[in-house]
Amino acid sequence: MKADLLIHNVRIATMERGRYGLINRGAIAISGSHITWVGEVAALPRVDARKTIPGRGQLVTPGLIDCHTHLVYGGNRIDEFEQRMGGATYEEIAERGGGILSTVRSTRRGSPEALAAQARPRMRALLSEGVTTVEIKTGYGLELEAEVRMLEAMAMLAEDHPVDIFRTFLAAHAIPPEYRKRPDEYVDLIIDTMLPHVAELPPELRPDAVDAYCEEIAFSIKQTRRIFEAAREHGFPLKIHAEQLSNLGGTALAARMGALSAAHLEYLDALDIPAMMRAGTVAVLLPCALYYLRETRRPPVDLLRRRAVPMAVATDANPGTSPCFSLLTAMNMACVLLGLTPEEALAGVTIHAARALGRADRIGSIETGKQADLVLWDVDTPAELSYYLGYVPKHSVVRRGVALTP
Ligand code: NIG
Ligand code: FE
Repeated sequence: MKADLLIHNVRIATMERGRYGLINRGAIAISGSHITWVGEVAALPRVDARKTIPGRGQLVTPGLIDCHTHLVYGGNRIDEFEQRMGGATYEEIAERGGGILSTVRSTRRGSPEALAAQARPRMRALLSEGVTTVEIKTGYGLELEAEVRMLEAMAMLAEDHPVDIFRTFLAAHAIPPEYRKRPDEYVDLIIDTMLPHVAELPPELRPDAVDAYCEEIAFSIKQTRRIFEAAREHGFPLKIHAEQLSNLGGTALAARMGALSAAHLEYLDALDIPAMMRAGTVAVLLPCALYYLRETRRPPVDLLRRRAVPMAVATDANPGTSPCFSLLTAMNMACVLLGLTPEEALAGVTIHAARALGRADRIGSIETGKQADLVLWDVDTPAELSYYLGYVPKHSVVRRGVALTP
């Protein structure tokens, strides 16, 4: 067997089917950007490898996937953090024109270059923890040109970082100030102008999915349904932010429309779950947002687990509810605050995160035929990845079959 890269003598958490799937003394062969063989060293056929990484028993996991971020934005919301720590609520601040709309004002002013420049340190922070795929949402432009500038900033980030970026179009993130009194006209604008335009963008800019924030302070069920129907007509997969502050039924709606994922879910109801099961909609848990908002409601993790709804874990990195750029921290909080096991947390940032992006056929586990995105960790057990807070175990990354120099 020929290979471009052979990783030898490592422990492998394959993460197939959401379990560790440990191979204790394993090897991985890679040709080009893909895995061509994985298994026990004892079963390894004779390999003619151009390059070998002689392992020392490190733990190899799939490259980590942050499947829900708002990494591209202008400005910051430190003033609101101070207000909230002084007792103001997220909704109060939003009603005063702060919150998402404050970031909209600073994002609208930014060129794609400026937005990319501001996002770079945040991207570096994510990548420094073994992340190889990042989803990023628009939604701080809320007008066509500014939304497209956000997509352009994402394309720039993809060019100068070793990362795959999944672009999600979230024009339905908030009602822009100029449409405050006539929200349905903004929905018309999304449907009649924005979606047809972004659907025709070249492949490096075209969104990979369409998202909406279904909530009292954002879009109603009816508005969300209209946007999703139009998005589907353009062939976009769907994602939703729902059940964060109240239960409007956005998750069930999205699931019935075949959505890839539904995020937040603190107010998810047991009755919403069967639709998720039928559609395979992934529950995306965002513990850092819940932490920052001091939310005491918890997503119904036990129910989701019992009904085998796949659970992903993400940072929700954004300037308001989650200025957190550490996926390992999100894993820790998913365990401590939400009750996931470390195995579920790791599945939540690998195979189930891949599923939330509709990419489980390509990434998220260590299997023959998958993209060779791997992290070699100096840890003893996979649970260690969820164990620390503020400490990143030493590691190195292989992305698309290429060993990155740290
Ligand atoms: O995922 N929930 C809506 N959107 C973001 C918050 C964005 C912001 O506050 O800027 C979230 O929490
Ligand atoms: Fe979000």
